[in-house]
Amino acid sequence: VVKVLKIGGSILTDKTRAACARNDEIDRVAAEIAKSWKDLIFIHGAGSFGHVPARKYGLPEVFDPAGLLETHSCVVKLNGLVVDALAKAGAYPMPVHPFSCTLLRDGRIERLPVAPIAEMVRRGLLPVLHGDVAMDTSRGAGIVSGDQLLSYIAKALKAEVVASGTIEDGVMAKGRTLKEITRDDLPAIGSDLGGSSGVDATGGMKGKVLELLDLADDGIDSQIFNASKDGMIIRALSGEPLGTGVRRSR
Ligand SMILES: Nc1ncnc2c1ncn2[C@@H]1O[C@H](COP(=O)(O)OP(=O)(O)OP(=O)(O)O)[C@@H](O)[C@H]1O
Ligand SMILES: [Mg+2]
Repeated sequence: VVKVLKIGGSILTDKTRAACARNDEIDRVAAEIAKSWKDLIFIHGAGSFGHVPARKYGLPEVFDPAGLLETHSCVVKLNGLVVDALAKAGAYPMPVHPFSCTLLRDGRIERLPVAPIAEMVRRGLLPVLHGDVAMDTSRGAGIVSGDQLLSYIAKALKAEVVASGTIEDGVMAKGRTLKEITRDDLPAIGSDLGGSSGVDATGGMKGKVLELLDLADDGIDSQIFNASKDGMIIRALSGEPLGTGVRRSR
C-alpha cells in the first residue's frame, strides 16, 4: 500500500515572511510522520521559501537564472530542515529535489522518474520531495508545486492513501467545510474557492483542489485535512476520512 502525504508550506513556514521556518511545527510534523511512515512518500510545500523568491523574480513568467538558483536554494534549505527533523524523530528520510529530475511542459510535469522513489520505499527509506522550480520545454523554467507532485506521484504509483494537509479544515464554501468535493461542485462553489492568504505562486486552495480533481478523474480519491491540529497526520495516514474528500463525479 503506497501512501503519499503532502504537508503545506502554510504549516511549515510563515507564508507572509521570506524564508521563515516554523521550527516547532516542523518538529511536530516530523514526530507524527515518524510514528507512521511505512510505505510513505512525503512531499512538503515550498511555503515562503519558494513562493516569496518566485514572486520577487517574476517566476514562472520570467526566465531568470539568478531567480531560479535563489528559489531552488531556498526550498532546498527548507527541505534540509524537514529531512533533519525527520531523521531526528527516528525515520530514514532521503531528500529528492524535483529540479534535478523533473521536466515540465507548459507548467505540467512531463517527466519525473518514479522508479528511484519506489525503490527507496521498497528498501524502507522515506523519500522527501518538495515544491520547486523545474526546467520547462516550452517556457524555459517553471514552478512545480507540491500539490502537482502529490497528484503526479500518487497516480504514477497508484497510491491508496493520498492526503494533503494544510492550515484549513478542508475546502470551505458558504461558510462551512465541505465533506466532499467533485468536479461537478465547482460551478456552485465559484469564488469561494480562492488563492492563498499568504504569498502563493501556485494557486493556493484552488490550485490544490484542481490538482486533486485531476487525480480523482483518474480514479484515485484523496483528502484535504487540517494538519495544524495534533494527531491529524497519523489519522490521515491510517486512511481515516477527515476534512474534505476529493472524489470523482458520479
Ligand atoms: N475555499 C477555501 N477553503 C479553504 N481555504 C481557502 C479557500 N479559498 C482560499 N483559501 C486559502 O488557501 C490557503 C491554503 O493554500 P496555500 O497554498 O496557502 O497553503 P499550502 O498549500 O498549505 O502551502 P504551500 O503552497 O506552501 O504548500 C488557505 O490558507 C486559505 O487562505
Ligand atoms: Mg499551496
